[in-house]
Amino acid sequence: MSGKLVFIEQLEQALKGLKSKEEIEVLLEKPKFEEQGDLAFPCFTLAKEWKKSPQLIATEMSKVIESEWFERVEAAGPYLNVFLQKGKVSQSVIQSVLEQGCQYGSNQQGVNQTITIDYSSPNIAKPFSMGHLRSTVIGNALANMSEKNGFKAVRINHLGDWGTQFGKLMVAYKNWGEEEKVKQSPIRELLALYVKFHEEAEQAKELEEEARAWFKKLEDQDTEATQLWTWFKDESLKEFEKIYKLLDVPFDSYHGEAFYNNKMDAVIRELEKKGLLERSEGADVVSLHEAELPPCLIRKSDGATLYATRDLAAALYRKSTYNFSHSLYVVGHEQSLHFQQLKLVLNKMGHTWSEQMEHIPFGFILQKGRKMSTRKGRVILLEQVIEEAIQLAEKNINEKNPELANKQQVAREVGVGSIIFHDLKNEKQNNVEFSLEDMLRFEGTTGPYVQYTHARACSILRKASLEEFGTVGQDLTDDYSWKVVKQIEQFPIIVQRSFEWREPSKIAKYVLELAQEFNKYYSHVKILVDDQELKSRIALVKAVTIVLNEGLRLLGIKAPEQM
Ligand code: ARG
Repeated sequence: MSGKLVFIEQLEQALKGLKSKEEIEVLLEKPKFEEQGDLAFPCFTLAKEWKKSPQLIATEMSKVIESEWFERVEAAGPYLNVFLQKGKVSQSVIQSVLEQGCQYGSNQQGVNQTITIDYSSPNIAKPFSMGHLRSTVIGNALANMSEKNGFKAVRINHLGDWGTQFGKLMVAYKNWGEEEKVKQSPIRELLALYVKFHEEAEQAKELEEEARAWFKKLEDQDTEATQLWTWFKDESLKEFEKIYKLLDVPFDSYHGEAFYNNKMDAVIRELEKKGLLERSEGADVVSLHEAELPPCLIRKSDGATLYATRDLAAALYRKSTYNFSHSLYVVGHEQSLHFQQLKLVLNKMGHTWSEQMEHIPFGFILQKGRKMSTRKGRVILLEQVIEEAIQLAEKNINEKNPELANKQQVAREVGVGSIIFHDLKNEKQNNVEFSLEDMLRFEGTTGPYVQYTHARACSILRKASLEEFGTVGQDLTDDYSWKVVKQIEQFPIIVQRSFEWREPSKIAKYVLELAQEFNKYYSHVKILVDDQELKSRIALVKAVTIVLNEGLRLLGIKAPEQM
């Protein structure tokens, strides 16, 4: 048990049931200045109940609260401050990290609960956009974080593989396409065809009509249309897979929009039966005027279904297949209205579990302050961006550590890690400025900085070559190691909070701070000196590597042992 828990327990006793342990924990603060101790309990909230000044309460309590875990307890104005026994707490914290290994910080909050996470979900025959990159990286981190909190995560890639745009693409391909070109560079070529369609259709109006007809053929399962669609989809998927492989992001399901084609009739029948469908200008809609939202379009006048219809079917399918307790959708701001409508429609259908659905929005990626876009045919191919990051990382490594074994592997881990970290270190609602130079710096608030710190700690362990790592005494009492220990001790709470807030940036900030504290320790304390405390210092270093590794893993970032 660590000192904090003991403090909470003692407070609970001293407060005679006035506040629960949980309430006390929430009230606990960090003293403003380090000289004031490690934990502070504010006594304001008791003043009214006890009809005493908070100052007096603090003084009185300082006399009754004591433990071998506390160096001393002091009243400082209205606060009760405790100074923990550094050596004892350090021993307990480090020991539990060493014992639990990568399990350290896990909890069972989500046990027996399933959480579906819809992320990445790019559109077939279109480039993988920067927005999709954000969704991929944030969604993957949230999935890892949910597992760390005991949930079973189902990772879903809701591919945009259906819709009228495929009609346009088929017309364009039949008119101007070349098989070889598409095979060579599918996304680039398909996008070019799509753009050409729009240019041509400005003059030749009949093209739109043809496109509608081709999409109808596809919906009617015409052989040629289906073959073309399958081909476009397979080629696109191959390119997306390259990106997922580079990022090392997994999925459990690739059920995209098309998967729900044969599941929409049932949704529409249910809506009809429940009297929710209304006719509006020839289309079928669900009115949402009571929530002051525009109606949700379910079926167009020509019978075609829509994005929202497929999402309704998908939500029902996910509920019945996975029986989720939470269902997350990691999709940009722009779709906020869509998800509001979706939840409301389900609610009107009587599916109260729609409350378990959460839209997780995020900001844009900017370049020099402007939105990065795939304007008319100008494609920023994400794969190239990632490759460039890897090359830059390799260049850095060549300068710093040219002898490094498996350089290419490490360069990949660092290049990719830098992109992911740069995205996740900001709160997800913020926009992110994209700059490869910035993200790849080995100093400052970057992924490589954290990775480098981890590698440095690993190299200390290699040099130490002690027989026995797992022993730690009560002899770590200096201020530098104490700060490292206190940061390590926070990890379990950060794991919880960051997930409750759906905020990977909390973990990113956490590993940064841990890296910073460790580097201060490293530069002020000689670690590998053969004295009494050597084993404890080594154990601390080992604990740091475990927590950094695990923190980075949650973000989806590798922690190479050498850099
Ligand atoms: N394919 C969509 C897009 O790129 C994102 C899909 C998100 N998921 C969902 N279930 N609607 O905009």
